[in-house]
Amino acid sequence: MKRIGVLTSGGDAPGMNAAIRSVTRTAIYNGLDVIGFRRGFEGLLEGDVIPLTASSVGGIIHRGGTILRTARSERFVKPEGVREGLLRLREYDIDALVIIGGDGSFRGAYDLHKLGYPVIGIPGTIDNDMAGTDCTVGFDTACNTALQCIEKLRDTASSHERLFLVEVMGRHAGFLALEAAVAAGAEYVLVPEKKFEIDDLCKKLHYAHQRGKSHSLIIVAEGVMSASDLSSQLKDTGGYDARIIVLGHIQRGGSPSSFDAVLASRLGGGAVEALLRGEAGVMVGRISGKIVTHPIQYAWEEKKDLDEDMMSLVDILGI
Ligand code: F6P
Repeated sequence: MKRIGVLTSGGDAPGMNAAIRSVTRTAIYNGLDVIGFRRGFEGLLEGDVIPLTASSVGGIIHRGGTILRTARSERFVKPEGVREGLLRLREYDIDALVIIGGDGSFRGAYDLHKLGYPVIGIPGTIDNDMAGTDCTVGFDTACNTALQCIEKLRDTASSHERLFLVEVMGRHAGFLALEAAVAAGAEYVLVPEKKFEIDDLCKKLHYAHQRGKSHSLIIVAEGVMSASDLSSQLKDTGGYDARIIVLGHIQRGGSPSSFDAVLASRLGGGAVEALLRGEAGVMVGRISGKIVTHPIQYAWEEKKDLDEDMMSLVDILGI
């Protein structure tokens, strides 16, 4: 192996730059050349390449977003697109490709792997909805960002004795919603993985208001419904004046937390080391502090469950 490629794909996540830096420098340290593809699989198809050097990835470990840019490629979902991608990789003499992204991006990587091409995935998404790693790159930062926003909302909520319905990201998964809810001390959390009863929610709000709670917070993952729809369904707010807020893409921005910068650095290095050991068609992850690999499809074939104890904790602590 002489030269590897790297790309970021799907939604950006804080820490992706730290992962690019780590992949690049670990590869160079081991005598490999590194090529970056811009705009994910789209850039691969279009031959939008930039050479990456130890100095070109300097000063990026702390930066949010991705210097390689990212995209959700429609073309790469089709078999013709994947075959064309393979031709490009051969054209540039690239011996293996590192894909940093979520499960959609890993599926594209898996398609390349099925054609016999060596790929390795680094899980990067704020959703944390991938098996094979306790945390995906970007999740911790997004939780902290959501928490900071919710803490600011709490100030105004308690001053005005209001209820805030806070919509967080997560179309299919409630990891971010649940983590933010526990950290912020929210009264209620709504996640796509679990059914909820609107009456139960109203009762809880009544109880909170009756016992003199100055404010209440409900965290709703976007995959359940929008905060605005929830507000329309919530006929009875238990006495609170309700307001809605959508945190949106704010959650994907900003510098990575130290946890994410370290995680991305370890996974980036681990990915290159795995390739050097001859592993391919795998993802790297961190489980109980150790860097491990699993077949890449493990990320979506194995179910990663929400922690039931954390769900109960929201109920217990939000009385
Ligand atoms: O997958 C990451 C994510 O931020 C999801 O939480 C969210 O539903 C989605 O991306 C939003 O995607 P886009 O930026 O393309 O609207």
